[in-house]
Amino acid sequence: MSSLPLKTLCVVIAAFHLVLGQIGYPHDYPGKPNSDFSPVWQDYFQVTNPLPNVTFPMSRSWAGNIPVNRPGHPNDTLFFWAVEKETGSLTSTADDSNNEPWGIWLNGGPGSSSLLGFFTENGPLHVRSNYSIYANEYSWDHLADHIWVDQPVGTGFSTVDETGFVADEDQMGEDFPYITKTYFGLENPPVKLTKIAIGDGTIGNIGEYEVLPAITIIETYPQLIGYDPAVFEYFKEQPMAFLSELATNASQHHIGIVIYSGNDDSLVSHMSSEVAIQNTTFGGIQGFTKKPSTPWYDDEGDFAGIVHQERNWTYVLVKGAGHLVPQQQPERAYVLLREFILGNNQTGLVTEVTGNISVVGGEDPALAAPALPGQLGIYVGSATTQSTYTYPSLTIAAWESFIATATAISPRLGH
Ligand SMILES: *[C@@H]1O[C@H](CO)[C@@H](O)[C@H](O)[C@H]1NC(C)=O
Ligand SMILES: *[C@@H]1O[C@H](CO)[C@@H](O)[C@H](O)[C@H]1NC(C)=O
Ligand SMILES: *[C@@H]1O[C@H](CO)[C@@H](O)[C@H](O)[C@H]1NC(C)=O
Ligand SMILES: *[C@@H]1O[C@H](CO)[C@@H](O)[C@H](O)[C@H]1NC(C)=O
Ligand SMILES: *[C@@H]1O[C@H](CO)[C@@H](O)[C@H](O)[C@H]1NC(C)=O
Ligand SMILES: *[C@@H]1O[C@H](CO)[C@@H](O)[C@H](O)[C@H]1NC(C)=O
Ligand SMILES: *[C@@H]1O[C@H](CO)[C@@H](O)[C@H](O)[C@H]1NC(C)=O
Ligand SMILES: *[C@@H]1O[C@H](CO)[C@@H](O)[C@H](O)[C@H]1NC(C)=O
Repeated sequence: MSSLPLKTLCVVIAAFHLVLGQIGYPHDYPGKPNSDFSPVWQDYFQVTNPLPNVTFPMSRSWAGNIPVNRPGHPNDTLFFWAVEKETGSLTSTADDSNNEPWGIWLNGGPGSSSLLGFFTENGPLHVRSNYSIYANEYSWDHLADHIWVDQPVGTGFSTVDETGFVADEDQMGEDFPYITKTYFGLENPPVKLTKIAIGDGTIGNIGEYEVLPAITIIETYPQLIGYDPAVFEYFKEQPMAFLSELATNASQHHIGIVIYSGNDDSLVSHMSSEVAIQNTTFGGIQGFTKKPSTPWYDDEGDFAGIVHQERNWTYVLVKGAGHLVPQQQPERAYVLLREFILGNNQTGLVTEVTGNISVVGGEDPALAAPALPGQLGIYVGSATTQSTYTYPSLTIAAWESFIATATAISPRLGH
């Protein structure tokens, strides 16, 4: 496969660096080609059987298991389900004239099947509680070919032999960090990665990233940890090492990083992502130089959250979404994908023209206001007793003072 000017959502390298092993049960189906991977395999993987309860036309799709090239583990495979944007878009020839973006969706966990995303967040088929199925009008394959991958091996339909589980990241096989590390370690990667999007609590939240939502929750509901600053500090340090290394690599390769985060109650209470960004050097400078405070809007023209962009880093806060952004705000997630991940919409971009610094789309001081704390009270009660909230005022005051310092972003962001 030749090198392509392709954009991806998340990194895909693993799928193309898999070599053909001796495939065995349970991922073998009749008609398996005897050759190395080539377009011949398209027929083998194409989903042609009618799917139960799918009563509407669906784009062409391909699914199956591909082996990972782990010596001695021929039964370790990754399961994928690829859905095409329009007829032929996914099977078109991979050459330099093919500049269409495509994406990989990985649910974080580790150990969450990406079929969760497929069936409940951003895939074409959504399942109702009575197991009937409806078409998701905001499926991400409407904007670009997408591949949902169960990872790491042993997750969902991705198979593993009994000794194949990976115990730690360095041993390889850890999904998102492993894939990015592999990509950046290759001299001639077979695809051109242009964007990595990390959904807070949604994509890539394995290992290092899964602590980002944890920090958010701790900030919003400090009573869960008894207002303990040590716990906050612990969680806060975890993402930094990996994120710093990724940032350096991404800057070198001009790869955009999109960090998005849902916010289901107040606009700027989810500051953990901002803390991580402010502590990361990208494009040679640490953090953002201005505070995110530019509104963006959905296709209805409704206020959809805050966006900020500097030096190929984009931070998007989605109003009205919790951690599963595409599930709770499917339309906003769709606009986010179209404008800020696949597209290069400049809303929120800090620009400098001969010394005059401005932000595309303007800045709203109200959106730059300090984090609104979540509910601070501690709930006491049960289903059968009278419930009350108590407010440990001294502890709350101490926590607020601590958090103000701990999340203080660079002094440059004073306004
Ligand atoms: C792979 O799976 C096949 C079929 O279940 C089994 O016979 C074989 O021993 C497995 N190989 C390994 C290395 O686990
Ligand atoms: C399943 O639920 C949907 C939505 O509530 C409803 O419209 C549909 O009739 C239900 N299907 C069956 C077979 O009960
Ligand atoms: C199809 O939908 C019906 C009605 O909602 C449900 O009872 C049935 O279990 C579904 N079939 C499958 C294979 O999920
Ligand atoms: C960064 O790139 C180097 C190769 O230059 C690679 O060894 C390393 O694993 C990469 N790290 C990440 C987090 O991508
Ligand atoms: C910034 O990152 C470094 C590691 O790169 C870490 O030691 C430090 O605690 C972090 N500071 C903040 C405020 O997150
Ligand atoms: C950029 O995205 C915003 C969404 O906030 C939208 O209103 C605007 O039309 C987009 N700009 C372009 C050029 O598409
Ligand atoms: C941002 O990416 C573009 C290409 O997409 C590149 O030309 C530019 O140098 C990058 N900027 C930084 C600061 O990395
Ligand atoms: C910078 O902005 C100021 C105030 O808006 C304006 O008067 C000035 O002409 C601008 N300078 C340049 C070089 O654009």
